Amino acid sequence: MTRLTNCRSIAFSVLIAGLGIPMAIAAPLGLPPVPIPDDNPQTEAKIALGDRLFHDPRFSVDGTISCATCHAPEKAFTDHRRLSEGHSGLLGTRNSPTVINSAYMEELFWDGREPDLEGQSKQPPVNPVEGGLADIGVLVEKIRSEPSYVEAFKAVFGVKAQDITADHFADAIASFERTIIAGDSPFDRYQYGGDESAMSEAAVRGLEVFRGQGRCVSCHLIEQTQALFTDNRFHNIGVGFKTIRGQEAEIARKFLEAKNAGADVDKTVLADKEASELGRFAVIEDINKVGAFKTSTLRNIALTPPYMHDGSLDTLEGVIDFYNNGGREKETDPVTPFLSGGIRPLNLSDEQKQDLVAFLEALTSPEIASQVPSTEIITGNTGDQQP
Ligand code: HEC
Ligand code: HEC
Repeated sequence: MTRLTNCRSIAFSVLIAGLGIPMAIAAPLGLPPVPIPDDNPQTEAKIALGDRLFHDPRFSVDGTISCATCHAPEKAFTDHRRLSEGHSGLLGTRNSPTVINSAYMEELFWDGREPDLEGQSKQPPVNPVEGGLADIGVLVEKIRSEPSYVEAFKAVFGVKAQDITADHFADAIASFERTIIAGDSPFDRYQYGGDESAMSEAAVRGLEVFRGQGRCVSCHLIEQTQALFTDNRFHNIGVGFKTIRGQEAEIARKFLEAKNAGADVDKTVLADKEASELGRFAVIEDINKVGAFKTSTLRNIALTPPYMHDGSLDTLEGVIDFYNNGGREKETDPVTPFLSGGIRPLNLSDEQKQDLVAFLEALTSPEIASQVPSTEIITGNTGDQQP
């Protein structure tokens, strides 16, 4: 992890920090220390302010949408919808990933278009299908006109009302997100805690499939002392291929034309279903990366259906069938020419598939599970209606 080298060294224990005193975040079993950027140290007051901003719906055009609408603590910081729904019932093109452990991601969003949590958090309020604010100045005005925020920003950042900027908003939210960390799952206790009885026998067999015949571990990494379950890289595993099949070059050309003429990538990919499927290409403009998306973490995966960047797979069984078929829902479906070399049919038996599910279920952190009463997928005015 290159970014770690830029970061302050971190103690493993939580320091009891007063106002303004930088504090470290404890790393739970199975996770490395949380990277904290030098220019945005954690303080208790900043984290509390970020928590409040994260849950405040005022940063949307109709006053109904906050970060927590799509990243709800009781839904494991997702929304349990295929595609996220912003203000006025508007649908985006993508599934909401969990914010849990996003502090470890080297790039944010499915296509990695933002380098850090600070940059990421300034996008949703002004995205037309999310918060819908006209521009970031509207957000800043909303903060400056609320006396309790003016007081809190002064206490945290030492600024007067007229000096509050969107960067302060971003810093506070990112600090809060860096506290949403969860490890210590049955897998962690088995793998790193020396407790051989922490996982069921099925899950132990599933771990073998994950490392062996399933080859999942080549992208969803498990390391000597920790497991992020992501390589922080981008791969085309076949998801969403049908939407742009055969038209990739034309859609890529149109997208680049618009981008070069000044179109905003964040707004384009969340509003335009075809542009969304370009994946990593939209950011680095490398034709080999058409349809490549960031390897997801698999921690708490049993709590965050539906799956994939387009929310197209409802269950873990469906995900495993997809991989077993070599990156397609049905064995008879065509394969994308952009498919990653790491994806091919796996020939797993029914028992191996069940064991893999048991293993994925062993990646749930108990303190997250206890906050999530239901994992039912919300349908209705959602992804079902996306053309
Ligand atoms: C309308 C629903 C919605 C709202 C509101 C929303 N998000 Fe998201 N969030 C999403 C979706 C969808 C994505 C994936 C978009 C993409 O990758 O193009 C995402 C991605 C993210 C990610 C990236 C995670 C990763 O692994 O890359 C973070 C972090 C995040 N959101 C935090 C926030 C914060 C902070 C706010 C409030 C300022 C917020 N979100 C508001 C739906 C939403
Ligand atoms: C070549 C790299 C690669 C391999 C091998 C791989 N994955 Fe993935 N995985 C990804 C990427 C990339 C995504 C996101 C893809 C997308 O949405 O388009 C993903 C997404 C997932 C998701 C959904 C995550 C979410 O939050 O929606 C699950 C579950 C998953 N993988 C499990 C597995 C399992 C189980 C295996 C082995 C059978 C496996 N993966 C093998 C790269 C890989």
